[in-house]
Amino acid sequence: MANRLFTTKPMSLLMNETSDSEHGMKRSLTAFNLITLGIGAIIGAGLFVRTAAAAANNAGPAVTLGFIIAGIGCAFAGLCYAEFASMIPISGSAYTYSYATMGELMAWIIGWDLVLEYALGAATVSIAWSEYLNKLCGYFNFHIPYAWCHSPFEVLRNSAGTVISHGIMNIPALFIIFLLTLLLIRGTRESSVVNAIIVITKVSIVILFIVFGWSFMTKANHTPFVPPSSTYVDDQGVPHNFGGILGIFGAAGVVFFAFIGFDAVSTAAQETKNPKKAMPLGILGSLAICTVLYILFAYVLTGVAGIDDFRDPVRGKEASVTYAIQTYMTGFGWLAKLVTVAILAGFSSVILVMLYGQSRVFYSMSRDGLVPGIFSDIHKKFRTPYKSNLLFLVFVGLFASFVPGDIVGDMTSIGTLFAFILVCAGVWIMRRTNPQLERQFKTPFVPWVPILGIIVCGAMIFGLGWANWLRLGVWMLIGFIFYFSYGIKKSKLRN
Ligand code: ALA
Repeated sequence: MANRLFTTKPMSLLMNETSDSEHGMKRSLTAFNLITLGIGAIIGAGLFVRTAAAAANNAGPAVTLGFIIAGIGCAFAGLCYAEFASMIPISGSAYTYSYATMGELMAWIIGWDLVLEYALGAATVSIAWSEYLNKLCGYFNFHIPYAWCHSPFEVLRNSAGTVISHGIMNIPALFIIFLLTLLLIRGTRESSVVNAIIVITKVSIVILFIVFGWSFMTKANHTPFVPPSSTYVDDQGVPHNFGGILGIFGAAGVVFFAFIGFDAVSTAAQETKNPKKAMPLGILGSLAICTVLYILFAYVLTGVAGIDDFRDPVRGKEASVTYAIQTYMTGFGWLAKLVTVAILAGFSSVILVMLYGQSRVFYSMSRDGLVPGIFSDIHKKFRTPYKSNLLFLVFVGLFASFVPGDIVGDMTSIGTLFAFILVCAGVWIMRRTNPQLERQFKTPFVPWVPILGIIVCGAMIFGLGWANWLRLGVWMLIGFIFYFSYGIKKSKLRN
């Protein structure tokens, strides 16, 4: 029994299945295309929403250091991802890689964990979308009532601390998930032209903000750069470790969200020319570009506006970037408007990639028998896994409508960090157990890079605090119960 938990899916079977289902895909993507694909999936709510949240709750201006730590953790994990992607150059994800290399139980753990990354990631970005939609409405003198754009676990207080409004349901967040699910069911995948336009727009607004914001930074906002450690209780009554080393690691865990998505590059392996070379370049290239932009952006944002702005729910707690520009960058009203519109488009593309990724992972898991067949039922006309899309509409929609963005955002971070740790460990294990497998790209300095990846990602998990550890634990426990009562019996590989 114990041995069978580690049954691996033979590589030949994997290759056959792939050529079956995706017969004839054209290999047209280059490393450059992959980099743009990566950036399209990466830059989103992590930068435009979670940065201010991490500054407010965890680290003040030292959120910039949090970005550096998160970037380093991702670089180590990215190097490991790249080896996996070059070893198994087919469309897939960490789930497919681990099934072929580390066996079924590990594949299950990663696949189940990826639900946190993709499904809850989509929910987080949709909640952030709702904040910026409200900002856009503000330009037309209309405001969505607080109750209908916040979860029931959020309240709005006045400056005296009295509750003046309660959230009921986040309707805009649900709306965007609904709309994008319909597009996915119809078979819409962003075309590379649309993706290129969105990437250029996103990168441009980040650069414009850095360049124009630079001269509006004030020294006071950056002093002290690392606040002394204390406990900060936010406007919802949630305590956070603020400042000091713990605060910086907490901030790193929060803004780690901004890096999620570079692994999406690996799903395009089959449409890539020379994937073994282009894959690592695509993964690491998009990561490198984003890291540089993020560090500069966080530095400027926390220099233009202060922590008190980011803590205040009626000022800059929501749609913080637009708030900072409107309030402190005189003469740049046009930039605030441009940023708001660009962010709404950019977030939509991130949500689309995540919902797509989620249905793709569950499609593979369903074909392997680990989750019910309903997840791989294909629509006759649209040729998409529409039932899976609809089920995830319900699941993601519930989180988007009824859970605060901070909670789903941190759950996404912790789930993805955990998956990255498993990928790092996997590369190291595979070097020992299957040294003969051909690897076009080899992670340098094994075992040190995987070990450092595990340590840095582990430190961020530590920084995210016990409430998040508990949530991850509960989610994995549900996963184990499901696997041992269902997956293990229905697994096609075993039968
Ligand atoms: N990295 C993506 C974002 O920040 C998930 O929205």
